Amino acid sequence: MSLNREWMQRDLAVLWHPCTQMKDHEQLPLVPIRRGEGVWLEDFDGKRYLDAVSSWWVNVFGHANPRINQRIKDQLDQLEHVILAGFTHQPVIELSERLVAMTPAGLDHVFYADNGSSCIEVALKMSFHYWLNRGQPQKKRFVTLTNSYHGETVAAMSVGDVALFTETYRALLLDTLKVPSPDCFLRPEGTSWEAHSRAMFAHMEQALAEHHREIAAVIVEPLIQGAGGMRMYHPIYLKLLREACDRYGVHLIHDEIAVGFGRTGTLFACEQAGIRPDFLCLSKALTGGYLPLAACLTTEDSTRPLRRLLDAARLPSLAQLHRQPAGLRGGPRHTRHFRAGPGDRAQPSAGRTHGQCHRPPRRPPPGRRGPPDRHGAGHRDGRRQGQQGGLSVAGAPGPEGLPACADPRRPAAAAGQRGVFPAALRDHPRADRFSRRGGHRGIDLATREAVSISVPGGLHPNHRDPG
Ligand SMILES: Cc1ncc(COP(=O)(O)O)c(C=O)c1O
Repeated sequence: MSLNREWMQRDLAVLWHPCTQMKDHEQLPLVPIRRGEGVWLEDFDGKRYLDAVSSWWVNVFGHANPRINQRIKDQLDQLEHVILAGFTHQPVIELSERLVAMTPAGLDHVFYADNGSSCIEVALKMSFHYWLNRGQPQKKRFVTLTNSYHGETVAAMSVGDVALFTETYRALLLDTLKVPSPDCFLRPEGTSWEAHSRAMFAHMEQALAEHHREIAAVIVEPLIQGAGGMRMYHPIYLKLLREACDRYGVHLIHDEIAVGFGRTGTLFACEQAGIRPDFLCLSKALTGGYLPLAACLTTEDSTRPLRRLLDAARLPSLAQLHRQPAGLRGGPRHTRHFRAGPGDRAQPSAGRTHGQCHRPPRRPPPGRRGPPDRHGAGHRDGRRQGQQGGLSVAGAPGPEGLPACADPRRPAAAAGQRGVFPAALRDHPRADRFSRRGGHRGIDLATREAVSISVPGGLHPNHRDPG
């Protein structure tokens, strides 16, 4: 038996393949790949294939690109991964800076997800969350174009409209508004692309006029509906859409997962319309196909309400918007008081001592071993607390709108967080109220009890004391 055949049989015994009717492989052989180089793939029998679909549009720098390989190897020896909750690192900061620099001005913050569909979920949730925090919870519907594709997770499918992918799951999907696509393949004979796209905008205008009070965002694949059959439309539609979204107070989400990074002639499709969306979703090509990663870029305006103190009571932090790649799972979710240093004054409170954790560390139930004590009393336990009381991340407001505390049993992390805390509190709308008392209050997420934290040297050189 050929090596190809052997691998194929082993595969079919244990694997589901995505977007594939597995029965097809009873006739059509799978192609087991042994190695890749540049545009070429090679199977186990030495046959070569041109990767003309770029491994589904992700591989833009070729297979086994020597430069990328080397950078990844170097990075592996230094740091393979660290959670982004409460921690950061050079590559993620530099990548974010570069994404902000290369995308239209104003898209200045990046939230990461691990694939395109999850990135769409992030954008939808952020938009909904924005309106919730603005006191408009009724704005929770999304407008999408017919023949759209935005991914395979449930909310992403809900804003999609390619029956092949969505029909089976109809009963699970969100209630969205579908507006006829400006697809120029369907334009009447003799009509220009621009005229057709303009004319089709009347449907969108009408939908927004009628429903804008309940609409959070419009989501589109700008210029090309990829999975819907590479159907294209004129940039004028995006321009008109931007204007209408502004007029009606509705977010504009651009899903450039398929068209971003130069695939439409400009680096991003929105540039051809001279507009900036409120949320820009990017994924394919971002890692050259090496790793799953997606980025949701946002404007300061579209995320500011998510950070406001008053709103934190409803949903404590951006971190809860979406779980990030392999992150936030075992993170520092303990919210204990930390000892800030000699001479710190804590808030007086029954049964508490200055500068100490107010509650004893939780122990895992008898018979159940806690995880390694890397994060104090065991992050599994911490996760449960986070779920009950709301996740709080160093520097992000706690659920009662008060800054979260760090864990005193993690001296190194606590010391690190001293740097984070003042920075976070600097812009904290209520920071000045607490600073006079020599400390800041936080909330223990498990008990919802107020605890106090002290920041050595005060909050920030420029903090205002209301006196
Ligand atoms: C426009 C668009 N959005 C979202 C997605 C989903 O991305 P992923 O497959 O990484 O979940 C795709 C995938 O092809 C896409 O083309």
